[in-house]
Parts: sequence; C-alpha cells; structure tokens
Amino acid sequence: MNNLCLLGLIIGLAFQPAMAAPAPAAPTKDAFVNDLLARMTEQEKIGQLRLISISPEMTREQIRKEIAAGHIGGTFNSVTRAENRPMQDAALRSRLKIPMFFAYDVIHGHRTSFPISLGLAASFDLPAIEKSARIASAEAAADSLDMTFGPMVDVSRDPRWGRTSEGFGEDTYLVSKIAEVMVKGIQGDNMAAPDRMLASVKHFAAYGAIEGGRDYNTVDMSMTKLYQDYLPPYRAAIDAGAGGVMVALNSINGVPATSNTWLMQDLLRKDWGFKGITISDHGAIYELIKHGVAKDNREAAKLAIKAGIDMSMNDKVYGEELPGLLKSGEVTQADLDNAVREVLGAKYDMGLFADPYRRIGTAEQDPADVNAESRLHRAEAREVARKTLVLLKNQDQTLPLKKQSTIALIGPLADAPIDMMGSWSAASIPQQSVTVRAGLHNALKDQGKLLYAKGANVSDDPRVLAFLNHIILDREEIAIDPRPAQELIAEAVKTAQQADVIVAAVGESRGMSHESASRVSLDLPATQKALIKALQATGKPLVLVLMNGRPLSIGEEHAQADAVLETWFSGTEGGNAIADVLFGDYNPSGKLPVTFPRSVGQIPLYYNHMSIGRPYTPGKPGNYTSQYFEGEPGPLYPFGYGLSYTDFSLSDITLSSQSMKKGGTLQASIEVSNTGKVAGETVVQLYLRDVSASLARPVKELKHFRKILLQPGEQRQVKFTLDENDLKFFNTQLQYGAEPGTFHVQIGLDSQDVKQADFELL
Ligand code: NOJ
Repeated sequence: MNNLCLLGLIIGLAFQPAMAAPAPAAPTKDAFVNDLLARMTEQEKIGQLRLISISPEMTREQIRKEIAAGHIGGTFNSVTRAENRPMQDAALRSRLKIPMFFAYDVIHGHRTSFPISLGLAASFDLPAIEKSARIASAEAAADSLDMTFGPMVDVSRDPRWGRTSEGFGEDTYLVSKIAEVMVKGIQGDNMAAPDRMLASVKHFAAYGAIEGGRDYNTVDMSMTKLYQDYLPPYRAAIDAGAGGVMVALNSINGVPATSNTWLMQDLLRKDWGFKGITISDHGAIYELIKHGVAKDNREAAKLAIKAGIDMSMNDKVYGEELPGLLKSGEVTQADLDNAVREVLGAKYDMGLFADPYRRIGTAEQDPADVNAESRLHRAEAREVARKTLVLLKNQDQTLPLKKQSTIALIGPLADAPIDMMGSWSAASIPQQSVTVRAGLHNALKDQGKLLYAKGANVSDDPRVLAFLNHIILDREEIAIDPRPAQELIAEAVKTAQQADVIVAAVGESRGMSHESASRVSLDLPATQKALIKALQATGKPLVLVLMNGRPLSIGEEHAQADAVLETWFSGTEGGNAIADVLFGDYNPSGKLPVTFPRSVGQIPLYYNHMSIGRPYTPGKPGNYTSQYFEGEPGPLYPFGYGLSYTDFSLSDITLSSQSMKKGGTLQASIEVSNTGKVAGETVVQLYLRDVSASLARPVKELKHFRKILLQPGEQRQVKFTLDENDLKFFNTQLQYGAEPGTFHVQIGLDSQDVKQADFELL
C-alpha cells in the first residue's frame, strides 16, 4: 500500500460508521505522522509551522486562501464555531487535507469568567482550581477551540509586573501543584475528547523573573535558583501531560529562550522527556534581532528552528526564510521535519485527524447565542470565587455585615462589570458579570438599604488613563466620570453619612494588571487614596473591598479601614461571591499566594528568601542588620495569610520520630481546633527549613498544605507525611538530593505565625 492509500484509509476509517468486519489495526501516532510527513512538500511543511492571529491584517478570504494552499497550520484569536468552520473547510480543501487547529488564551475561564489565576491560587483549593479549568476547557471546546495558551505558571516575585495577575504567585510548590491540576482540568484523561483541549504551558522559562518587573525585560539568575525556584512548575505541567509549551519572550542569562538550545533541547526534550509541540510567543522569532543575537530574519529563523521552536506565532520569518536556509543546507531537512512532526503530532493528539470538526460541530448545532446564559456555569463560578477571597483585616468584627443595615457602596470598582473579569477574559461577557453593586443588591433583596456613589475615578492621571484606554483593546472606553474629583468625593461622603457602614470598592482597573502593564508604584491611585481618607473622616465603619491583580502597598489604607477584603478580579459571579462573604453567608478561607509589601521599595519581597549572614534583627535602627532605615521591615501581609470569621488554634507539632533515614518517611501532625462560633475552612501549611547545607537555603519553603473545614468546637488532627523528596534541592553542581542534618518543620495558618519542631536527616 502506498502512503497516499494509507492516509486515505485512516481518514476514511475515521469518518466511517463502525462496520461489522474487523477493522485493521489503526497505525500508531508515529506511523501516521511519519507517513503524512513523507508525502508533504517542503512548502506544505513550512506552512504547518505558521500560527497566525486572526486580526484585521488579513481578510478572512485571504486567510482561507492561504489555508487551502497549505500555508497555515493553526490560528488563534477567533472564538466561535461559525468563524472557525470556514477555515477548517478551507484546510480540508488543501492537497493533503491536514486540519487546522484553533487556539486561544483561555486563562481563567472562557465565556464564564472565573477569578484571575492569582485569585484561584488564593483558594489553596486544588479541586476547585481543577474544576474551573475543566469548565473553561469545556466552554472553549464548545466554541471550537482545540488548544489553550495556558496554564501560565511563571513564578513571580515582583508585583510591579502586570502579569502577576495571570500567574499563581510567588511560591514554587504552590504554583507547581496548581500547574498539575490546571493541565488535568484542561486536558482531562484524553485531550482528544470533544470537550477538552490541549494545554500549552507558558512562558518557558522564568518570564516571571524579568528584571525590575518591567514586561519583556531580561532574566539573569544563577542556575541553582533557576532549577530550584523557577523551573519546577513547568516541569510539573509537563509531567502532568501538557501537550504544548509556549516559549518565553525573555532571555535567560543572555540567551533568548527562543534561540536557547540548552533550554529547548537539553533540558526540555532530553532531561524532561517532553514529547509535545513548542510554540514561540508572539513575534518572538523576529525579536531575536532586537535581542541582538540574530543579524537578520534569516539568522533569526535559523536560530529558532535549530533551538527547537516548532511553530512560529505570528511572525513571517519561518515562511520567508526557511526555503533559502534549506536550500543552502544551513537548516536541514531533519530540522524541518522535527518541527513539523510535532505540529502534526499535536493535531493527532487533539483528535483532529480523526475528526477535524470534533469541536466545531455542524452549522445546525451552532448555538443561536454563543453567550446564552444556559451555557454559563454560574453556580460553579460563584462557588469557586468565594473561596478565593482573602480577609486581610477585621477589626472589632466589622464583618460580616448585617443585612438589615443601610450600606453605602462607594468606589470606582463598585459597579464596573468589565473590571470584574480581570485580564485575559476577552471571550467573557461583561454584561453578564455580577458587579459588587449587583451582588449586594441581590443579597439584600428587600432587607436593608443599598446606597451608591462612585466617589472617584480609578485614576485621573492622564498618562494612566491614556494607557488604560489603549490596553483594554477596543472593548469599551474606561468609564470616566467627568466631574471634578472633589465633587465626586463630596457626593460619596454625603452618601456615606446616611449609612450605617461604608463598603468601598477600590483598587486597580483590570487593564492595570495585564500584559505590558508594569507599574512603578504599588499604591492605590491618588484619586482613590483621597476618597478613602474622606470616607474615614465620616467616622462610619469602613470596609475596603480590594480589586487588583497584584499585591498592593496599602499600609495607610489598612490603618484607615476597619475591615479589608482582597477580592482580586473575581469573575462573572464575583459580585455575588463578594456579597456572600460580606454578609457571612460564606466564611472567608482564602490565603495570600503572594507577599504584600509595605512599600514598592522593598521589592523583591517574598517569604522564601535565602538565609543571609545578617538577617534583620529588631533593635536600634542602623544596627547593621538587613533592613531599610526609612520603613518598617517585613511584609504588610505575609504569604499564606488570611483571616476567617471564626478562630482557629493550633497545638504543638508532634513528630513520629526525631530522625528520618534516607529513603524513609516521617509524620508531622498537629491538632487544629475551631474555637470560634461559626464553621470555617482554613489552610494548614507546612514549611521546612534546611538548617545547614552545602549552600545557603531559603529561610523556609512550603512543602505541604491542606484545606480543612471545621465546625465550631471541632478539633482535628492534621497529619503530613514527609519523605526525602521534601528535603531535596539542587546543589552548586545542579545535583538534586537531600543532605543529612537538622531540619525545622514549621506548621501554621500563614507563613509567619508557625509552630516548630526539629528532626535530623540521617
Ligand atoms: C503574547 C503573550 O505573551 C502570550 O502569553 C499569549 O499567549 C500570546 N500573546 C497570544 O495571545
């Protein structure tokens, strides 16, 4: 049988109803892909490496023509079946009928928006996070999408970076755990299923460590730090089966990720055994010229394909330069085939050869309204969202609020549907999102009274406003009230004076925590600071509902307010979830996945920093220990912190033994009691410190956590099993292992306030 017949048979079989005669054994993926590859022209192969953004740059007709000619392998940014079907039709008119795939940034929900990733991390609830990914995947697949550019698992320790919002925080262990469940949620057991997608984990690697938190900047760090702190989450995603890897825009120690042979081949393919597709980030191959490692497009294309970038996202250099490079022999047929093989392999894994329309369906099956309520997962979105809210302060039990009261809801984010959705939520429908105002209104029904005043614009700095109008990308102009700031504040104060309590929804608009949205300050904008000050002056109890995609330095506001609730950008059902917590219908259980600094000048400030020779020791200022002399040391709120409406107490730690043998285990247990009056969930966190090792180790590192629900008066033993893997780290030779010696085990309900016990690794 020649190759063409073999392919015909395979495709034919895929579309035939089952027949009585025993079917010949289906060829393996490798056989299928190699057979197809053998019949492709060079131009068709190069076409498969091209991933284009659907944008006004090319008309739909031009795109279809290019697809039918075999010049495009996949697209992103078109999100309906009706849009994507004609492109798939065009692909099936191409000589070899190789299907297209359709990708999109499905980051924290799709039509239904879940809280931003940073918020999801604050839940410390892996099943809830997995559920959010599963729903997002199902909704996106129902919209004809085959691949998501996610999860984004860049560890980030510089909140000036706008993409802090898009990741899962500062801790390697937490981010790795989440990476794993995100991939499971997106891909399920079989990414070819019609309600599943392929997950392309990003941004490989270390994008979260860009210097100064300034987007697209360079990354320079020791190899031990890279291995220890930044690489594990990508590895976790890959070990969980992620089918794709998106390569970072940054360089690492001088070598751009996009041309980094060590990163893409030695580490990713050889050490980690990754078998999926690699995709450059937007325009990154061309940007090798800007990085100063390629003199022109030709060299850029050569470097990228040699390094192992399979598919090029939205730049033309592969298409334009590979033919010449192949002719001259600078790029070999094997280089090209390796890349094409992965693209075809990914399409095979997504089930597209078996049925190119498996996520597109027929026109008759298209929903009349892609945003129909029935397709949204509101109950789940609310349930997940309320787990992500973090109570940061609750003086004199200001919260929960009584429904019979008069509440003055104030603030630029109190009634801001688009901001509820957060960054990377372009397929979600702002009109369907529940704002804080709508959420409070729903909760109050006919009890109590809700008054409202905007009180301030998010900012009145023309530079910020110009940026925001640009960054939200044509969705809608940000809503600016043209009245002078003083007039807005006066109205808000008047409203507040008629109320029993003030709820002020303040923070960032979603465009402020986004790609390309780095900040020099972590303060609230001046308009909002002035508003809060004026509200405090009324003497009414003041509750801050924070919306933001990064830690903010809100020391002043913490002092001014009676209660502070961190709500991130909480998604479609955010307003209802926030109301659930404000009224005590849900007891808050979120914990911070990032450290909140007192001031931007402390950045980087993260809990698991390295041990140093002169750690800060309280005493006289200038006592030659590590500190900034103008400000109070340490965080405003530490990693892992979050209050509840109940109180928990912890016993001392009991260890099953004072020592652990190599290869052995040890149990650390603690009694947790709910000593308050209401049921509540909390996150029991276990940290380890290697007291003395061959190189300096962090002061503590999260190694286990468990979220538990306790009824009032209930006491529960929480037992963690430690093994040698928990003690391992990369030494200066990059060997991974545990060294004998003393370890501190710390258990607490945040990273600072902990119980401690010690054991020896023998
Ligand atoms: C650039 C971003 O860095 C990346 O995260 C995203 O997936 C692509 N654009 C596509 O939207």
